Amino acid sequence: ATTALIDPFGRRIDYLRVSVTDRCDLRCTYCLPKGFKGFEEPAHWLRHAEMLRLVGLFVRLGVGKVRLTGGEPLLRRGVADLATGIAALPGLVDLSMSTNGTQLAALAAPLKAAGVHRLNVSLDTLDRGCFARITGADRLDAVLAGLSAAKAVGLAPIKLNMVVQGDVNEHDVERMVAFSLAQGFVLRLIETMPMGDTGRSARPVDVSRLGARLAAEHGLLPAIASHGAGPARYWADADGRFALGVITPLSQHFCAACNRVRLTVDGTLHLCLGQEDRVPLGAMLRDGASDDALIDAIRAGIAAKPERHDFNAQPGKIVRFMAQTGG
Ligand code: GTP
Ligand code: 5AD
Ligand code: SF4
Repeated sequence: ATTALIDPFGRRIDYLRVSVTDRCDLRCTYCLPKGFKGFEEPAHWLRHAEMLRLVGLFVRLGVGKVRLTGGEPLLRRGVADLATGIAALPGLVDLSMSTNGTQLAALAAPLKAAGVHRLNVSLDTLDRGCFARITGADRLDAVLAGLSAAKAVGLAPIKLNMVVQGDVNEHDVERMVAFSLAQGFVLRLIETMPMGDTGRSARPVDVSRLGARLAAEHGLLPAIASHGAGPARYWADADGRFALGVITPLSQHFCAACNRVRLTVDGTLHLCLGQEDRVPLGAMLRDGASDDALIDAIRAGIAAKPERHDFNAQPGKIVRFMAQTGG
């Protein structure tokens, strides 16, 4: 019953992204539109014990890497306690979080104590006005304070996620590289994916090319070893420290190496970020399903995992927003 999860394309699934809330205190233009009304009803939010039970089943099935996402995961009440529970699951090797950083100044220490190993923090610009235009809120200083706190408590590595949008924040990319190198953060440049009616308004940027150019300018070399659990490709500095990465779903998609699936706050298992295929594990759990029945449903889902997204060919296909599955 505990053989590994392998999909029909021979891909071993060992990475689970868990969205612990679909709420967020920001409204980034490519992620969650202002006035969005489609949030999950609180009655459907899985409780910590329910989430822990589902995550535990995945870990039993060989999923050693778990990332907490949102919405904004730090808005979930008691998220550090949930992290403590997940970190203690036998077989868990990598517990990480993707956050917007606004609450990190207060929560970095509890997260570290809970056993979170490392953080990815969204940061698209160092310009206060540009930050406010992208996120809808004047919170750049809070994020910078959060980054300092995370670094101070030894959460490492810290990766910065910069969604690059032409004519919006592309001009700030040099400053972001310099800041990241100075602070010892890993900067990742990300192509904007079309989700819901977002992610299509700005001029698209070929981040594969941008990353190669910046790497050359800064004397960074392509890294052969991988770094983290996700789809990024990296360059390292002369001492071999990872410095710059790119995530290029559009210019050079990485689906052949996909190793991951996603759980939403109501326990829905999404089999691909760019497809609608899903399994209602949370509803099954609340209907009294046994662990064996849930494992059968997980296996059936993995057996039907789509080969890849269609973001290039069908940019209007995915009607849900990024905040609903956590990226
Ligand atoms: P690491 O383990 O540190 O590499 O984390 P990660 O890159 O997997 O996680 P993160 O939450 O920081 O995601 C960074 C970007 O990669 C976001 O824009 C995600 O939407 C995107 N991303 C992560 N996984 C996938 C995926 O399976 N498919 C696509 N198309 N994009 C993904
Ligand atoms: N395209 C690409 N990345 C996105 N993110 C949010 N929305 C999008 C999108 N439409 C990124 C954020 C966050 C990560 C989890 O997902 O930058 O850091
Ligand atoms: Fe995997 Fe789908 Fe992401 Fe491609 S788009 S890497 S198949 S989850």
